[in-house]
Amino acid sequence: MTAELSPSDKAKYVAARRAVGFVEDGMRLGLGTGSTAAWMVRCLGERVREHGLKITGVATSNRTAQLASDLGVPIKTLDELPWLDLTIDGADEYDAKLNLIKGGGGALLQEKIVATASDRMIVIADPTKQVDSLGAFPLPVEVIPFGWQTTKMLIEDMLASVDVLGRTASLRLTGGVPFRSDEGNFILDLHLDRIADPNALSLALNQIPGVVENGLFLGICDMVVIGTSDGMVEVRDIHTGTVTHERIDTATSETLFADKTK
Ligand code: 5RP
Repeated sequence: MTAELSPSDKAKYVAARRAVGFVEDGMRLGLGTGSTAAWMVRCLGERVREHGLKITGVATSNRTAQLASDLGVPIKTLDELPWLDLTIDGADEYDAKLNLIKGGGGALLQEKIVATASDRMIVIADPTKQVDSLGAFPLPVEVIPFGWQTTKMLIEDMLASVDVLGRTASLRLTGGVPFRSDEGNFILDLHLDRIADPNALSLALNQIPGVVENGLFLGICDMVVIGTSDGMVEVRDIHTGTVTHERIDTATSETLFADKTK
């Protein structure tokens, strides 16, 4: 039986499906977090269950680890598999150099560690995530709960000396209480509008006591797979400079997203 997806899910699904096409038997894979990455885990699960693909995944969040296990994707920790062949993840923004903002889902710390520990990173996204310069999406920064208001003040002071348009930070809340990352940390979202020099900002942020990591992924991503709701995907490789287009079959089996309807 086939199932109808919303336009947004179709775009995510085709990007995920194409990216999973780069996965080969025996690979150690970093599994991203978020709604687009969840499609990647579903497509991967289908290849494992129905086509006998042999891979091992390292998840970037408890959510992804749970989904992967539910769908039959073997999971190990990064300590068990300290280096990976490929990470596939979503993003909140990507620019022409494939620099990214990530962490909208609050998993930026594990995502950055896992992507950095991979030979290659592929981002899966839809065209709305593409920007000329990073910063319209609030930049997530993971901070230690101890003294977070001091850390926030130090960040806002530092922002006065870098080339950004906005200069405020807000504590991320969920249900009226501070959001906690899988590590138990808080997230500050920085409203910057435009980041002129992401490298300088990333360095300055990570020098502030209390900052654990920021959501700028610079020089980490190798390829972006952009899906659209008409079933087309664009694959951009930053190293070769190649851009290819292809159509992906959007007729999906209902078993592929049984977890979404639970
Ligand atoms: C989670 C992330 C996600 O990859 C990012 O927020 C994109 O999510 P989605 O695919 O749901 O739009 O960085 O921390």
